[in-house]
Amino acid sequence: MEAVLGLMIVLLGVAQGVETYCDGRQDGAQCYGALGGTVDIQLMDSTSEISRYHLLKDSLKILDVKHNKSFHDTTENKFLFFPSNGTFRISSLNRNEHGNYTLQTFDSDGRKSDEWTFKLIFQAPVSSVLLVSECLSQGEMRVSCSSQGGDSPQYSWSLDGRTLTDAELLSGNNKSNNIILKQHVSGHLVCSVRNHVNSVSKEQRICTCVSDTPLGKESIL
Ligand SMILES: *[C@@H]1O[C@H](CO)[C@@H](O)[C@H](O)[C@H]1NC(C)=O
Ligand SMILES: *[C@@H]1O[C@H](CO)[C@@H](O)[C@H](O)[C@H]1NC(C)=O
Ligand SMILES: *[C@@H]1O[C@H](CO)[C@@H](O)[C@H](O)[C@H]1NC(C)=O
Ligand SMILES: *[C@@H]1O[C@H](CO)[C@@H](O)[C@H](O)[C@H]1NC(C)=O
Repeated sequence: MEAVLGLMIVLLGVAQGVETYCDGRQDGAQCYGALGGTVDIQLMDSTSEISRYHLLKDSLKILDVKHNKSFHDTTENKFLFFPSNGTFRISSLNRNEHGNYTLQTFDSDGRKSDEWTFKLIFQAPVSSVLLVSECLSQGEMRVSCSSQGGDSPQYSWSLDGRTLTDAELLSGNNKSNNIILKQHVSGHLVCSVRNHVNSVSKEQRICTCVSDTPLGKESIL
């Protein structure tokens, strides 16, 4: 029971920490958020002269901005609008909030002047990354990077602060989750896993593998 509770707290902690940003000023923009997290959506330029606009979720009006004054549901501290930069913040994201949003602007006579939409998509954040290395018989090193929790994880590698080059790789590339490093490659290896909502990395100091010895399956640390 305690373990389950502990896990729930960890998972909640991950989601609550996830803050994403989205530029909603372009029609068809795809915005990403995480359940329980916060998304900042830029609706307008800070310099916009548009005096009135509405934000609709499906057909429900959730924000009405008139001369930089905003009207929205303030009962649950969920929505926050920053007139200084035209950003709308939605906190404690829940499942109902994924989907299509429409922004409508009005001219000074109250006629609709423009309309565009964006979509809010949820992704589970990457929660942890595991890096495992193993020496192969010829002194090459197989390294696998695996992630937990994240939707659509994308991998990347760096060695001593720069992207891993093909010259250092026997198999795989800088986007594979399993790679084999050539002999004598050493240094500070980092695997980063990212998706649209967060990124987590794991690092390991890689030393040259001993080759052609009876104990060739160990690396010298
Ligand atoms: C809203 O405020 C910003 C600065 O806070 C200003 O530049 C902009 O002109 C204002 N827009 C309107 C429509 O009043
Ligand atoms: C907009 O302003 C708010 C409040 O000052 C700030 O927290 C937020 O980061 C700003 N967003 C952008 C995109 O500048
Ligand atoms: C959003 O709009 C697209 C295209 O208009 C539609 O195919 C899709 O089903 C909508 N998504 C939701 C969650 O309503
Ligand atoms: C990853 O490798 C490809 C070729 O394998 C290269 O074109 C690309 O620039 C590399 N990515 C980075 C970030 O260096």
